[in-house]
Amino acid sequence: MSRQIVVGLADELASGQRKLAFVDGRSIVLFNIGGAIHAIDNSCPHNGASLASGQLEGCVLRCPAHGLRFDLRTGCMPGTGGLSLTTFPVRTVDGQLVVSLDEPDATTNQEKEGCKV
Ligand code: FES
Repeated sequence: MSRQIVVGLADELASGQRKLAFVDGRSIVLFNIGGAIHAIDNSCPHNGASLASGQLEGCVLRCPAHGLRFDLRTGCMPGTGGLSLTTFPVRTVDGQLVVSLDEPDATTNQEKEGCKV
């Protein structure tokens, strides 16, 4: 069963912006890319680096530590299988950003089926 957690107001995350949220000891980064909101765990699946300051190229986020690239829409590495981000469903409800967290722990997407090539 998933929990619905309010992490902020939709108005405070304009297109092109990102926001760090802390939920139950977990760090989550939210991105607004062209009006679409994406939420990921703030921990690179390669070696745990913070992804909050990673460079964006469209929907692809580059980890600042070693440069691996992940598509925020899927969590997958473009053009290859292997590592993937832990992503969270996020939606806007009454002007609030609501992230869905699975219990007891969000799904770890180390071997996300959709990322295999
Ligand atoms: S920790 Fe992210 S690429 Fe190595």
